[in-house]
Amino acid sequence: WGKTGHRVTGHIAQNHLTGKAKRAIKELLDGHSLAYVSTFADEIKADRAYSKYFAWHFVNYPLGMRYEDSEKSKYGDLITGIETCVRIVKDKNSKREDRVFYLKMLVHLIGDLHQPMHASRAEDKGGNDIQVQWFGEGSNLHRVWDKNLIESYGMTYTELATELDQVSRKERKKIQEGTIYDWVDESHVICAKLYDSAKVGDKLAYRYGYDYNDILFQQLQRGGLRLAKVLNDLFE
Ligand code: ADE
Ligand code: ZN
Ligand code: ZN
Repeated sequence: WGKTGHRVTGHIAQNHLTGKAKRAIKELLDGHSLAYVSTFADEIKADRAYSKYFAWHFVNYPLGMRYEDSEKSKYGDLITGIETCVRIVKDKNSKREDRVFYLKMLVHLIGDLHQPMHASRAEDKGGNDIQVQWFGEGSNLHRVWDKNLIESYGMTYTELATELDQVSRKERKKIQEGTIYDWVDESHVICAKLYDSAKVGDKLAYRYGYDYNDILFQQLQRGGLRLAKVLNDLFE
């Protein structure tokens, strides 16, 4: 996701933390919110010192296949990135500095896990090579899902999070079931559907928004509630 998607994810998650997780996170993040730190992993991208984390933002494997059955990238991917973050943050013997760094990375990566074009296929770099128009401006399928769609609402991240956070306890529990392996395959199935939603050169506008609004909102909501679940378990 772009900035708004990550902040929505962090803001929703913040509302569903246990007291214990909330205190631990507040201490590690010097009082900053999950929404605030959610974009950190993108802010360090341009710095060559952090280039090894680039591959952590996404995972590509053949459509129709499950992550666990796929050939893994030697550079790591979204799943190995999340696993590394969880291991380091959980370990009380990790340096505080590392726990802070990997916590911020984790908040971001759980967001990306729910952007369908980040659980994608390699041939077109998760839709980055599929050029389309968005309300007459040049874009691509990846970018449509990172930011064009979400920004078309003209809502702030707090407004969007409030809109998306209207779920019953029962619905929330249901959404929080499963593992990151289930969640990545779920995103990957949605991704396959999105490859049918637009072809190179398509002129996307209102119609696309109507048709895909539900998927966008569902993925943002899932990302937020599941981030809370991952953090609650981690600080248990
Ligand atoms: N580069 C290669 N594949 C990508 C993906 N799925 N998302 C973002 N960047 C990528
Ligand atoms: Zn992206
Ligand atoms: Zn990212």
